[in-house]
Amino acid sequence: MRAVVVALGKMGLPLATYIARAGHEVVGCDVSAATVDLVNAGQVPFPGEDGLDDALAQVVADGRLRATTDTTAAVADTPDLVVAVPPLYVDAQARPDWRNIDAACAAIGRGLRPGTLVSIETTVPVGTTRSRVAPELEAASGLRAGSDFHVVFSPERVSSGHAFRDLDTYPKLVGGLDADGEARAVSLYRGFIGAEVRPMGSAEAAELTKLAETTYRDVNIAYANELARYADRLGLDLGSVIEAANSQPYSHIHRPGVAVGGHCIPVYPHFLLAGDPSARLPRVGREINDAMPSYAVDLLEAALGGSLQGATVLILGVAYRGGVKETAFSGAAALRDELRARAATALATDPLYDDAELVAAGYDPWPVGAPVDGAIVHTDHEQYRTLGPADVGGAHVVVDGRGVLAPEAFAAAGVRVLRIGRPDRA
Ligand SMILES: NC(=O)c1ccc[n+]([C@@H]2O[C@H](COP(=O)([O-])OP(=O)(O)OC[C@H]3O[C@@H](n4cnc5c(N)ncnc54)[C@H](O)[C@@H]3O)[C@@H](O)[C@H]2O)c1
Repeated sequence: MRAVVVALGKMGLPLATYIARAGHEVVGCDVSAATVDLVNAGQVPFPGEDGLDDALAQVVADGRLRATTDTTAAVADTPDLVVAVPPLYVDAQARPDWRNIDAACAAIGRGLRPGTLVSIETTVPVGTTRSRVAPELEAASGLRAGSDFHVVFSPERVSSGHAFRDLDTYPKLVGGLDADGEARAVSLYRGFIGAEVRPMGSAEAAELTKLAETTYRDVNIAYANELARYADRLGLDLGSVIEAANSQPYSHIHRPGVAVGGHCIPVYPHFLLAGDPSARLPRVGREINDAMPSYAVDLLEAALGGSLQGATVLILGVAYRGGVKETAFSGAAALRDELRARAATALATDPLYDDAELVAAGYDPWPVGAPVDGAIVHTDHEQYRTLGPADVGGAHVVVDGRGVLAPEAFAAAGVRVLRIGRPDRA
């Protein structure tokens, strides 16, 4: 098989490498010349993806993967499959900015020849493949979807950091605009996906599945967060309550925490709501999860005597989750804004970001060791599991928003560690 992968980001590059590693000929396309140059040199442009450095170097050296900025030319070479995973950015209210998708469709469409199958993997609101992507490809190519070429939707379901493992494990869902396109896509995906490839019957079913699974997580975490606030009032350890509840096979309660961040989980409930404004749970879940950073600041404020005015507070971790260099919709920004709103100085540190990167992301870097009054652990970085009381700038109180610290070590040094949904052991 010959494949083209459009957009060599954290999803597209592992996928392009994975397809090439399975023995196929792959051309990767990106609008960034710097990304294309790095990929052609066998180098991964971003850190943290398990196994990607070696695999990419290998497939580039073997000539099975090359990269280009010319998407139209790559598609005009009539590959069997074009997979497109350009990022769909959203504004602060999670409304889509369609420019990347539209530009990718226009570039693909201009090169499209009869017989090629186009698969969209970017997460989109239900109906996007049929009512936006297919017409754009038709307009740019002058061809007809369903007869000259096929379009399907196949959600990217992997987590960055574990793309190869997840591609080998999670069923690959494929939904077409019609039965022929779907069958062709299933057969192409079976040529390289290690896991089950599952036909969904329609593009809309595949689109909705991705929104359903991600919104489930957001709503579930919101439930855990509500339970945590209740457990805090009761003085109960919610961790052991959840563990006990989940020992019954129909209970799958997630963990509470200071924030739900990233491109996906806080955003896709809004895609669902855009299609179904009458839905209530996704909206309430978002409200609950969005309120958690301010709840964490409440805990700190109460422990520091009821006011944060003039206090200096350290935010530990700006990445939205541990080990991933990504600040999209990170709860650290909400913590910073909440602290500033209460007249505190918010400083930030993160093992994945240097000071210039912190400033660029909108944070005031913590001069390591500088004294602070309190601290909030925002990110579950592995490095934070071994933090001790000497590593937090002399803070008297630390709110551990992810439950990663060992509180005993802090208690021995007279530092209070407050955890969400866990009793204060100090
Ligand atoms: N990152 C994740 O964990 C994750 C998980 C599941 C699904 N997804 C989906 O994957 C999509 C992409 O996410 P990502 O993390 O790979 O993004 P990313 O920001 O890491 O990379 C995006 C890449 O796309 C390139 N690009 C932008 N517009 C383009 C265009 N028109 N043509 C060619 N290249 C273009 C950029 O230069 C960049 O290299 C998301 O919108 C989401 O739907 C992401």
